[in-house]
Amino acid sequence: MRGRARRHPVPLADKRRFSLFADLVQRHFPGCRRAYDIAGGMGKLNVELSARGLDVLTFDKRWKRAEVKYAERLFTLDEPCDCDLLVGMHPDGATRVLVEYAARHGRPFAVVPCCSDNGMSYKPWMRHLAQLGGDLGLEVVEEALPMDGRARVLIGRPKG
Ligand SMILES: C[S@@+](CC[C@H](N)C(=O)[O-])C[C@H]1O[C@@H](n2cnc3c(N)ncnc32)[C@H](O)[C@@H]1O
Repeated sequence: MRGRARRHPVPLADKRRFSLFADLVQRHFPGCRRAYDIAGGMGKLNVELSARGLDVLTFDKRWKRAEVKYAERLFTLDEPCDCDLLVGMHPDGATRVLVEYAARHGRPFAVVPCCSDNGMSYKPWMRHLAQLGGDLGLEVVEEALPMDGRARVLIGRPKG
């Protein structure tokens, strides 16, 4: 590193993200009982939400994971809707489909976006997703989790 400043990049993923997000979900959606956890990786958000009383099904393709209800496949718009809430923590390429699915089925959602699916950088991607939800008939607001990395949350609800 001689001659160069040492860099301390902001981590993309804070280990507290699952419990912090689960608390937010519980606060915003106390009446919801059945959640789809989109792109849930190893199922850690599922564990946190289940501990708070929700019935959660995680969609992703990890074989190494927690013992939770898990649909080992990619989530698509063709998935039958048996939930009253959609959640996603850093769901990468599944973020757009999460918003579109929520709008199509008139369900609320909470998502913590991370990388875009179209080359957009973080701030334009956040604006794009909020606009997408609005265009599809959802009222979308933003909050932030008290953590490092990508911490902004989009919360959408059907209008009216
Ligand atoms: C950055 S990881 C985040 C995983 C986890 N939510 C976390 O915070 O640790 C992104 C995940 O998105 C999953 N993924 C991407 N597209 C998906 C889709 N259409 N359906 C389900 N999972 C998807 C990938 O398999 C990967 O596990």
